[in-house]
Amino acid sequence: MSKKYTILGIESSCDDTGVSIISTDGNSFKILFEKTASQIDIHKQYGGVIPEVAGRLHCEAIAPLLEEALSSVANIDAIAVTAMPGLITGLHVGVEAAKTLSYTKDIPLVGVHHIEGHIMSPLLNKGAAIDAVSFPLLALVVSGGHTQLVHVHEFGSYSVIGDTRDDAAGECFDKVGKLMGFIYPGGPKVSKAAIGHEDNIPLPRPMMHHDSLDFSFSGLKTAARYYLRDNPNADVGDVSASLEAAIVETLAYKTKKAAMQIGAKTVFVVGGVSANSALRESLATSLETQHIALIAPELAHCTDNAAMIACAATRRVMHGSFDSVSELTASPVGMLPQ
Ligand code: KG4
Ligand code: ZN
Repeated sequence: MSKKYTILGIESSCDDTGVSIISTDGNSFKILFEKTASQIDIHKQYGGVIPEVAGRLHCEAIAPLLEEALSSVANIDAIAVTAMPGLITGLHVGVEAAKTLSYTKDIPLVGVHHIEGHIMSPLLNKGAAIDAVSFPLLALVVSGGHTQLVHVHEFGSYSVIGDTRDDAAGECFDKVGKLMGFIYPGGPKVSKAAIGHEDNIPLPRPMMHHDSLDFSFSGLKTAARYYLRDNPNADVGDVSASLEAAIVETLAYKTKKAAMQIGAKTVFVVGGVSANSALRESLATSLETQHIALIAPELAHCTDNAAMIACAATRRVMHGSFDSVSELTASPVGMLPQ
C-alpha cells in the first residue's frame, strides 16, 4: 500500500482565510478538514477589497481556524501555505502563521504559488486522480486578479501562453457590476441578472481575433460604462447578458485556439469565474467538437480555498523538498514554477 501524507493548507492571499487538511497518496486527494472565513461582508461596504482591512481580518481569523483544524486531525506531515502572488497584507499573515507552526511543532513547510493551487483544484473533485488526467493539459485560470492560459507540461511545470494585458475577467464582471449597483463581488450577481435576457447590446470582444493568446478586458469595461452613461434607463438584465456574452465568447474562443495549438486532450477551467455556468457551457460546447475534455472544480473550490494549496504542495512533500523557516517569505508577485 502506498504511503499516505497528511497536509495542512493555509490560504490568505485575498479576502478569504482558508485552512484545510488533506490526505493523499500522491495521486488522489481526500479532504479531512476544510473551513474558510470570508471577509466579503466587510469589504462590500467599500466596493472592493481594502488591503489593510484584509490583513487585520486575516489576523483575527487565522488562529481560531488553525486551532480547530489541528484539534480535529492529528499527525500532520507538512504545512503548505500560499506564499505568492496576492495582497501582501494577507500573504504575510498566512506565511508567518505557517512558519510559527512549522518551527514550534517541527513540521516541514512548503510555500505554494496561488495559481498552482487553482490549477490543481479540479483534482479535489470526488473520484478525480492525477493518473486519470490526459495530457497535454491546458488550464484557463479566470479569477478576480488573473486571466491566464497555462500550458501544464506536468503538475509542477507550467508555461503561461496567454495573459491579460490589463483587467482580469473577474475584475471586469465586478467593475461593470458595481456600475449597475451590484454589491461586491459583482460577478455572480451579473450572471444571475443575465438569466432570461438577450445579448442585444453591441459590446466589443477586445483582442479576440488578435494573433496572440492574450486578453484585454479594460476596453470592454469602458464600453459598458459609456453605454450605461448614455442609456440611464438601460435594462440591467440585458446589459448583464451582453457583458457576460462578451466575456464568455472571448474566453471560449481563445481557450479553444490555445488548446488546439498545444494539442490539448484536457482543459481545466479554474478560479472564481469558473463558477460561471455560461462559461462552463460555452467551453464544453466548443471543446467537444475537438474531442477535448473539460474539467472544472466543484463550486466550493472555484473560489479561493486552502485545500487546493495543500494539494499543490503534495509533489514537494513526497520528494522532501521543503522551504526553510528562515527563508520563506511572502511576495505580492512571482512566477509559476517552470
Ligand atoms: O479566485 P477568486 O475567488 O479570487 C481571486 O483570486 O481573485 O475569484 C473571485 C472572482 C470575482 O471577480 C468574482 O466576481 C468572480 O470570481 N466570480 C464570478 C462568479 N463567481 C465568482 N464571475 C462570474 N460569474 C460567477 N458565477
Ligand atoms: Zn484565487
